[in-house]
Order: sequence, then C-alpha cells, then structure tokens
Amino acid sequence: MDIIEVLNPAPSGSIIDTHAHYDDERFDGFRNELLSQMGDMGVCKIINCAVDTASSKRVLDIRKQFPFCYCAVGFHPENLPDSEPALDEIREIAKRDGVVAIGEIGLDYYWDKSKTELQKRWFCAQLELAKELSLPVIIHDREAHGDTLDILKEHKPVGVLHCYSGSVETAREILKLGMYIGVGGVATFKNARVLREVIAEVPLERMLLETDAPYLSPEPYRGKTCHSGMIIRVAEKISEIKNVSVDEVLSITRHNAEILFGI
Ligand code: NI
Repeated sequence: MDIIEVLNPAPSGSIIDTHAHYDDERFDGFRNELLSQMGDMGVCKIINCAVDTASSKRVLDIRKQFPFCYCAVGFHPENLPDSEPALDEIREIAKRDGVVAIGEIGLDYYWDKSKTELQKRWFCAQLELAKELSLPVIIHDREAHGDTLDILKEHKPVGVLHCYSGSVETAREILKLGMYIGVGGVATFKNARVLREVIAEVPLERMLLETDAPYLSPEPYRGKTCHSGMIIRVAEKISEIKNVSVDEVLSITRHNAEILFGI
C-alpha cells in the first residue's frame, strides 16, 4: 500500500487528529511506517478510537510504540457485545495510561434499524461509565440525530459529536450542551452544503479536527486510504469558510483538543 503524500503539509506540531482508527486492518503492513511519518506532516497527537474490546486493546498496543497516539475505548453501535460483563472489561481498560475518552459510542440507524433499543441501552451505559471515570466521550451519530440529541440532553456528557452530519439547528443544541463539533474530510466534499453552513455557524472555539482514518479522505485524496496528515486540507476549507487564517484554525482547534482530552 502506498502512503499518500500530502503536498504543502501543516507546520510542525500543529495538528491533533481527534478521531482515527489506526488499528484498522487496512493499515496492516504499513502502519508503523505511516505513524513514523506523522511528525513530518505536522501531526503531533492522534486519538485512536476503538470500536469493541479487541480494538480497545489494539489501540493501547499502538500507544506502546507511538506515545503520541492516545486512546478512546468503548463499543461502537455496530459492534455491541452480547453480554453485560463486557462493560466491566471496558471499565478496566479505560483505567489504563493513555486512555483519554470513552468512544466511539452512539447510535447508527443507517444499516440496521432493528437494534435501536439495544443501541440506546449501550449508549446510555457508556455515557454513565464516562461520567463515573471523569472521561469525555466521542460520539458517533449516523441517521439517528433525534434520538442522539434526546439522550445527550438527558445525560449531559462532556465530549464531541464526531464527523458531525446534522443540521445547523441541531448543532446549536449541541453547542448549548457545551459539547464540541468534530469536522473532517466531508467538509471538502462538493455535496457538503449543510456541513459548510454548520462550520460557518459553529465558533472555532467549539470545533475539533479529525479524519476517521482510514475512511473519509478529504479532497483531493478522496477514495484513497485516509491518514492524519490530510487534515491540513480540512483546516484550509474551514479557513476559507470562516475567513480566518489556516494558522488560526490549526492553533484554536489544537488547543480545544488539548483542553477537552487533557493531552
Ligand atoms: Ni470512527
């Protein structure tokens, strides 16, 4: 697999990718080589988000070799376990050094609408776990905006709506709850009109940059295996929409990530 080279990369130490999946098998064979190059592409910290118990252990393993990679652990709504004791296992993993969030957790009604009650139950249980451990949450919401917002209003977690895909109105509700909005490659897509309206509305002080690597590469790398170095193209798009410098986008969003995750 070729690592996609980023032209005009971000300045050294300027990017925190708050949402990536470097444990994904699509990185097998070139993961170490890729992560070793992150510094040259301006990336100083990464949060790898797990999707289940096995991946929670894998993101901790990555941190052993690459200490700038932090961990979010938990169950993605598409990867829910069969039994309740699994939550205890996540609780123990979450106490390990380098774990800075519970995630990614949430609701996903895109693929399968038959498990909405199960998804809600696990979402709430993990929000409570985050509170118990005083950790922020990283939230996945796909085609489940109404239910996600209802649950967030009820539990009032500290955290971020990752890869935000809702309306401007919902974004205002999220901001009222004190939460952050995660923005990634989708912002550069031609058809992302609503997201660009959201970006215009949301103050930079409440925005986080992310990739969701290996997915959702920004333009002009769409369709290629995404990596954190590509975030500079997202920052440029935000700077264009908000009419501020790229440096300002990078420094404010980096500061936000440092404060929210304590990294
Ligand atoms: Ni993700």
